[in-house]
Amino acid sequence: MYRTNTCGELRLANKGEKVTLCGWVQRSRDLGGMTFVDLRDRYGITQLAFNMETNAPLCERARRLGREYVLQVTGTVIERSSKNTKIPTGEIELEVEEMTVLNESKTPPFTIEDQSDGGDDLRMKYRYLDIRRNPVKNNLVMRHKMAMLVRNYLSDRDFLEIETPMLIKSTPEGARDFVVPSRMNPGEFYALPQSPQQYKQLLMVAGMDRYFQIVRCFRDEDLRADRQPEFTQIDCEMSFVHQEDVLNMFEGLAKHLFKEMKGIEFDKFPRMTWHDAMRLYGSDKPDLRFGMEFKEVTDVVKGHGFGLFDGAELVVGIVAEGCAEYTRKQLDALTDFVKRPQVGAGGMVYIKYNADGSFKSSVDKFYDAEALKAVADRMGAKPGDLMLLLCGPAMKTRVQLCALRLEMGQQLGLRDPQKFAPLWVIDFPLLEWDDETQRYYAMHHPFTAPKPEDEPLLDDPSKWGDIRANAYDIVMNGCEVGGGSIRIHDRTLQNKMFHTLGFTDESAYAQFGFLMDAFTYGAPPHAGLAFGFDRLCSIFAGADSIRDFIAFPKNNSGRDVMSQSPSPISQEQLDELQIKVDLKG
Ligand code: AMO
Repeated sequence: MYRTNTCGELRLANKGEKVTLCGWVQRSRDLGGMTFVDLRDRYGITQLAFNMETNAPLCERARRLGREYVLQVTGTVIERSSKNTKIPTGEIELEVEEMTVLNESKTPPFTIEDQSDGGDDLRMKYRYLDIRRNPVKNNLVMRHKMAMLVRNYLSDRDFLEIETPMLIKSTPEGARDFVVPSRMNPGEFYALPQSPQQYKQLLMVAGMDRYFQIVRCFRDEDLRADRQPEFTQIDCEMSFVHQEDVLNMFEGLAKHLFKEMKGIEFDKFPRMTWHDAMRLYGSDKPDLRFGMEFKEVTDVVKGHGFGLFDGAELVVGIVAEGCAEYTRKQLDALTDFVKRPQVGAGGMVYIKYNADGSFKSSVDKFYDAEALKAVADRMGAKPGDLMLLLCGPAMKTRVQLCALRLEMGQQLGLRDPQKFAPLWVIDFPLLEWDDETQRYYAMHHPFTAPKPEDEPLLDDPSKWGDIRANAYDIVMNGCEVGGGSIRIHDRTLQNKMFHTLGFTDESAYAQFGFLMDAFTYGAPPHAGLAFGFDRLCSIFAGADSIRDFIAFPKNNSGRDVMSQSPSPISQEQLDELQIKVDLKG
């Protein structure tokens, strides 16, 4: 037997027992008469004690152990004279009688402790060493627990986990596909799935009724903290359901996870229409951990000779409570913030509603105290508050103000990562106009059903932007953690939708023919949703980046710096695939 116990489980109750442990040397301390070694495995750390007086040769060997050596030790559990209350095994130590070095280790390139001296790149390169550290390891443990809870919850509710293919047909809607060349079909390519969308709909046609899959998805898109080229979805689909059934089912799952993982119980999650989310927060994924709702003041500020406001489609602002004391420097920094290219505002107007009831603003030239009071009243500001206003084209300005709101929330410590604000955003627009290509795209995907009452608008192209979809997102703390929709199960409506999206009958059939054919064989009404599992994990842990919840993630350039992929392939491989690479061209 390699070991009788793990390094995390021995307690005072085990005193006197003879045990065998295996693990890695985290650190050792040579105190002359005694040498202490911290032995680590996945479960914890146990202190090993080597006594020069009772076993000098063994103690000598212990002194020569390097960091991360792999050991097997046998000894007796004894009570420690100086206890460590910070770790669960801190009351005992192992008086070692036998030791086998199972493997030696080079000195690791960074310290493998909770606080490491390794930079991001180095830790990514040696990810297998990074995973030995508690912060990374615990994230993977948490991810596993969440996955098990999800599986059990859905399985208990008759969902079947069914695998769908990874080598599929490329469909250009949505993000860019990763493609895989087919050796047996030269010049032809598979795509890796951006999601199992079409297959899960086919499973509904196949009568599987309730499907789920914890599934890897691939998207060739620009990377950010919450985006990886390969990521995992909890992908779900249900037959014979209304939107309400879907929302309730997956709200139930989210609540179950909050309860089991965080001990937090939620009432019903709030719901907000997409339109309200944009109007009140300038975002389809508002962070509701704090208020600071948008206040529109266009009509109040017009007619005072301030050209920027007079000519603006929208003047809208937020109230930063208790911030009237902001200094010139702080206000300038906020102005610089909104002017950054990533935000793109032309400038920012501030109005301080001083504690004594007076006003001080960046537009005092145009607005007297009475006029500023009218703005304050509209915005619900109180003495002591600071109002920050932006103006311009309505949607653009709202999006800019959203960035400012989040920045203020951050500065004021209102975005507590241990606080959770889930929200359903519903009634998304069906279609989204793209200026560049001058056409509408499906905002969610082309199989999303319009609201039945908006369906007639499909016949009037001037109204396409107004059509609402039966589509919903689940948002937590300003992050889109999931999304889904009621699907179109009627072939005539699906054809109409394809036409709206600029497909001809032929081009739609070429891409989606198999799904369209399937729908002629009795497709049930169905709907579904997919959670971004990595995002869900990162939100639950109060972390910013999903990378920390993926065992072997890619960096921001989409590279695996450990295995050095992507990488060129050999000429033989290229020849076999009949692919010519001409990087010079
Ligand atoms: P959607 O495209 O909204 O819907 O994706 C569902 C969820 O997946 C997560 N996600 C990502 N996570 C990490 N990295 C990425 N690159 C990434 N892209 C998306 C998000 C998102 O909410 N088939 C539909 C679902 C459906 O209609 O049932 C779909 O894929 O959290």
